[in-house]
Amino acid sequence: MITLSAIKADVGGFVGHSAMHPDLEATAQEELERARQQGLLVDFHVTHCGDDLFLIMTHEHGENFEAVHRLAWDTFVKCTEVAKKLKLYGAGQDLLTDAFSGNIRGAGPGSAEMEIEERPSEPVIVFMGDKTSAGSFNLPLYKMFADPFTTPGLVIAESLHQGFSFEVQDVVEHKKITLNAPEEIYDLLIFLGAPSRYAVKRVFSRATGEIGACSSTDRLSLIAGRYVGKDDPVCLVRSQGNFPAVGEVLEPFSVPFIVEGWMRGSHHGPWMPVGLKDAHPTRFDGPPRVVALGFQLANGKLVGPRDMFDDPSYDHTRQKANEIADYLRWHGPFEPHRLPLDEMEYTTMPVIAKKLAKRWEPLD
Ligand code: 13P
Ligand code: 13P
Ligand code: MG
Ligand code: MG
Repeated sequence: MITLSAIKADVGGFVGHSAMHPDLEATAQEELERARQQGLLVDFHVTHCGDDLFLIMTHEHGENFEAVHRLAWDTFVKCTEVAKKLKLYGAGQDLLTDAFSGNIRGAGPGSAEMEIEERPSEPVIVFMGDKTSAGSFNLPLYKMFADPFTTPGLVIAESLHQGFSFEVQDVVEHKKITLNAPEEIYDLLIFLGAPSRYAVKRVFSRATGEIGACSSTDRLSLIAGRYVGKDDPVCLVRSQGNFPAVGEVLEPFSVPFIVEGWMRGSHHGPWMPVGLKDAHPTRFDGPPRVVALGFQLANGKLVGPRDMFDDPSYDHTRQKANEIADYLRWHGPFEPHRLPLDEMEYTTMPVIAKKLAKRWEPLD
């Protein structure tokens, strides 16, 4: 069995929240290379989307393995030291605890892990977001694994025809439920359509029970008890065979649907699929970006990556995203561009409410 672990954190932006400084990636590269040589990891790939640092790792130790989580934590701490020296923006932003206590979950970084029996050919897509939040993968995961207009394989391929089951987490009450597609899709969608509360954690093939996808659902604000950072998420998706084809997995991103997390973590914006060369959001700190790196696993080795959205067939999606960005930006500080009051990462409301408390009068 091989475990694929993607663990990510924002440990400092360059410049502002726009991108990654190369010294941080170089530091992470060194740390993970040492762990590979010591035999903890089979392979790894260090990358970024915007100001978020992603550690994509393979190993033989299963999910929630302490030494792997510790490696990720220590790597983020090392990178934070570098970020502090360079006075990068928000150095250590996502590291919420002073001391690592055995598992990365609840400590600030986001994580998605799956233990798999590697197939004769194992194509995996790693999606990475910036200026968005946990739950943003609800819509694309639904489309990939439950919508026959996206994935005709659900209709015409024997191996997909039984459908998939979705493990959904309630990120506020910390509980989970598993619902089956297709027969429970109306029940499923009442939850998935509210991604700030309910997030798809895992998807399983109903024909074989194999895991097909896993996403990070960690919400920093709910961990810290106040709004900090923005849980820019990661999602792992297996493809082909008993799972959607690569093109079916990528297809939901051909429309730049609206996600939360733009500017100050407090605005809605279109999610723009980009190649790594364009994963540096600057306009109004955005618009939000998503990168898709494709790998073929070969005995745990990460053969790749292929930069899947670096393709002219997404040019018109990016163009549309820019048009939607203009349209939403025109609303300025108004909803629905601005998030609802209880979802904003920043707010002056308590201070203003206190200052003006005495000036409110009863209605006539
Ligand atoms: P090939 O015939 O190239 O293997 O493609 C099959 C497939 O699933 C493409 O979507
Ligand atoms: P990040 O969550 O990517 O650090 O972005 C913070 C922000 O609010 C940018 O405007
Ligand atoms: Mg940041
Ligand atoms: Mg970010």
